[in-house]
Amino acid sequence: MENDTVDDRKSTNTKNIGDSREKPVLITKSPAMLDLYRKIKLVAKTKATVLITGENGTGKEVFASLLHYHSKNSNKPMVTVNCGAIPGELVESELLGHEKGAFTGAIAQKKGCFEMADKGTLFLDEIGEMSLNAQVKLLRAVEMGTFRRVGGKEEVHVDVTLISATNKILSDQIKAGSFREDLFYRLNVVELYIPPLRHRKEDIPLLVEFYKNVYCDLYELHDADFTKEALEVLMNYDWPGNVRELKNTIERCIVLLEGSKVTPDMLPVSISKAKSKYFNGFSDDSNSYLHIPVGTSLDEIEKQAIKQTLRSVDNNKTEAAKLLGFARKTLHNKLDRYDSESYSTIQNNKAKPEKSDLAEVSAMS
Ligand SMILES: Nc1ncnc2c1ncn2[C@@H]1O[C@H](COP(=O)(O)OP(=O)(O)OP(=O)(O)O)[C@@H](O)[C@H]1O
Ligand SMILES: [Mg+2]
Repeated sequence: MENDTVDDRKSTNTKNIGDSREKPVLITKSPAMLDLYRKIKLVAKTKATVLITGENGTGKEVFASLLHYHSKNSNKPMVTVNCGAIPGELVESELLGHEKGAFTGAIAQKKGCFEMADKGTLFLDEIGEMSLNAQVKLLRAVEMGTFRRVGGKEEVHVDVTLISATNKILSDQIKAGSFREDLFYRLNVVELYIPPLRHRKEDIPLLVEFYKNVYCDLYELHDADFTKEALEVLMNYDWPGNVRELKNTIERCIVLLEGSKVTPDMLPVSISKAKSKYFNGFSDDSNSYLHIPVGTSLDEIEKQAIKQTLRSVDNNKTEAAKLLGFARKTLHNKLDRYDSESYSTIQNNKAKPEKSDLAEVSAMS
C-alpha cells in the first residue's frame, strides 16, 4: 500500500508539475489494482505509450503520475493537457506552440505542450474529447516526433513519453467516426483499465481511514471515526463517482461532524437510501453466485457466467468483458453465437418461445 501525499490540483488546460519528486498516493489492497501498479512500474522502465481507461474518479491521473514518478525521467517535467478544455482553434498552438505574429494575439513565441514536456512525460487527459482536427495534428507529432510551431518553418524535435487517459470507450468512438483508428493504435500500445470502486469494495475501508485522517489534519480537527454501521452503508453504495465521490463524502462528513463518530444518519441521503444496482463481489448474497450442477458442460458454465456477469453490470459489455477477462470482440462473438443458438433452438422446436427467453436474449444483444 502506498500512502504519501497527493497533488490534486485541477488543471484549466495545461498543468506542469515540474520535477516534483512527491510520490502520488495510491491506497489499495485490491489484487486488480496491485497488478496495475506492478504493470506501471514495468512500463515506467520503457518509453511505451500508455492509454489509461476507466470511469470518472477511478484514479487515472493518479496512475499517470505514478508512471511518471517511477520513470527514469521523473526529474523532468510532466505536463498535463486537458484535451476537452482546449477550444478547437487553439489546439494546434496549445500542443505545438506558435511563433510571434503567427496569428492575431500571438505577441511572442510560445512553446507548446510537446516542447514543455521534452525529455519528460506528456499526459493527454480526456483524449476522447479531442476534436478530429486536433487528432490529425496530434497523430503527426506523435508519429514523426517532430513538428513545426504554428507559423514556424523550423522542425522541432522532442522526446516525450506519452500517456493518455479517457473515460470514453474509444473503440465505440472509432465506430461512430469521432476518433481516429490510427491515432488509437498509436496511443494504445499498453492499455491500463482501472476498475470502478464498486468492483473493489475492499478498498473502501482503507480509503475512508486514509482520507478521514487527511481531512482531520487539514482542518485541524480532533480524530474522528466512522461507526461500523456507517462504514456498512458506504460499502453498500455503488459510488458512480468512484474514489473522488468517496473522498468528497468523507471530507463533508468530517467538516460537519460535531462529536467524534460519523453515524449513518450523518451520511448524505443519496448514499444511505440508494439501492445497489450491481454485483456486490462474492458476498453472502446468493445472486452473486452461479449455482451449477456437477456435470454441467464447460460451454454452459461459460454461458451462465457471461449472462450473470452482464446482469451484474447492467448489461455494460465493455465492463463485463473486462471482468471476465475477454476482449470485447470475443464477448460479442459469444453473445452472437448464443443468440443464433437460441434462435435455431426455437426454429427446431417449432415452438413459440417463452416470453422470458426472449427477454433474456434481447437483454444480452
Ligand atoms: N487509489 C487511490 N488512493 C488514494 N486516492 C485516490 C485513489 N484513486 C483516486 N484517488 C483520488 O481521487 C480523486 C480522483 O482521482 P483522479 O483524478 O486520478 O481520477 P480520474 O480517473 O482521473 O478522474 P476523471 O475521469 O474525472 O478525470 C483524486 O483526488 C485522487 O487523488
Ligand atoms: Mg482525470
